Amino acid sequence: MTTTLIDRVGLLYTGDPEREEIADAALVVEDGLVAWTGPASQAPDADRRVDAEGRAVIPGFVDSHAHLVFAGDRTAEFQARMSGEPYTGGGIRTTVAATRRAGDAELVARARRLVREMLTQGTTTVEIKSGYGLSVEHERRSLEIASRLTSETTFLGAHVVPDDMDADDYVRLVAGDMLTACAPHAKWVDVFCERGAFDGDQTREILTAGLKAGLGARVHANQLTEGPGVRIACELGAASADHCTHLTDADVEALASSGTVATLLPGAEFSTRSPYPDARRLIDAGVSVALATDCNPGSSYTSSMPFCVALAVREMRMTPLEAVRAATRGGARALRRTDVGWLRPGARADLVVLDAPSYAHLAYRPGVPLVHQVFRGGLLLE
Ligand code: NIG
Ligand code: FE
Repeated sequence: MTTTLIDRVGLLYTGDPEREEIADAALVVEDGLVAWTGPASQAPDADRRVDAEGRAVIPGFVDSHAHLVFAGDRTAEFQARMSGEPYTGGGIRTTVAATRRAGDAELVARARRLVREMLTQGTTTVEIKSGYGLSVEHERRSLEIASRLTSETTFLGAHVVPDDMDADDYVRLVAGDMLTACAPHAKWVDVFCERGAFDGDQTREILTAGLKAGLGARVHANQLTEGPGVRIACELGAASADHCTHLTDADVEALASSGTVATLLPGAEFSTRSPYPDARRLIDAGVSVALATDCNPGSSYTSSMPFCVALAVREMRMTPLEAVRAATRGGARALRRTDVGWLRPGARADLVVLDAPSYAHLAYRPGVPLVHQVFRGGLLLE
């Protein structure tokens, strides 16, 4: 059992509410876990020493919302949007067609590349959804591929109704045979609750079936319009309501008085040129907030949590501390994980050494590659 001392950390953001920031800090890693954090002057001896040379250290980002199993390209759709076309979610079907045509090897390689891209930008835990298969065979395949890359897999058969099916028949299929085929490969069930996708009754039916099958619930809620998504998520005890862009006061109250995290995805508003969610309103109301990329080829083709942190600070009135908290501990809460998203004794030693004296530089120096080193399970990523 070897121990590693990460010494001379200029500013350690632990994510542990009991001692969230430590200046002139150090931490000790043992067996892939955090064994000790505190002032560098009090650090215990260790077998190895890594000199952070005054850099800041934060927990690895927890990206709790991503769609990484897909093929095809939607650059033209993005360009059309930047010329004034609205985003409707209709392009999902373009990706479904390309994904169905692709072989397993291509899908695995593409998803793996995105996970790698994320890792080099400091993301050490990622959730991956299906949702570009929309048939029993293709959804099951997407989840099987996702489960090779993460334990946080989400069944999103209810992304949109495929072109060749009646909506009621499709909901029955998703809540029936498709769920049965997919549940062994999934931890979560998700529904895109939105006009043009699935309504409140359909959302409830699918989530309830998923819960009964032993999955946890999460919801794409209130992205493009106000609707019942957030309230259903809170009512059913979903871990997270994602997007939360168009909220009524009742939605905010429901979130504040439930254990459901509001996961904000500013990359989607950036890439669809839409108004950002009101993070300030949520935080001031006492809602637990997470930040994630929503990485997907349609509405948010970024894999970068630092970019989302910068957007959250500049566009959503979050402080740098709130944004980093939401991108680490917030994401972990949205996945109901206590082993990641913070650096306290017993947690996984997933951490990022920033080429900066403070995490605030993630927003202060947007677009700059500040990730100096990434450790996952105590191992330095080469
Ligand atoms: O979270 N809103 C639904 N799903 C994705 C977009 C998927 C796509 O456009 O391909 C999202 O934004
Ligand atoms: Fe999404």
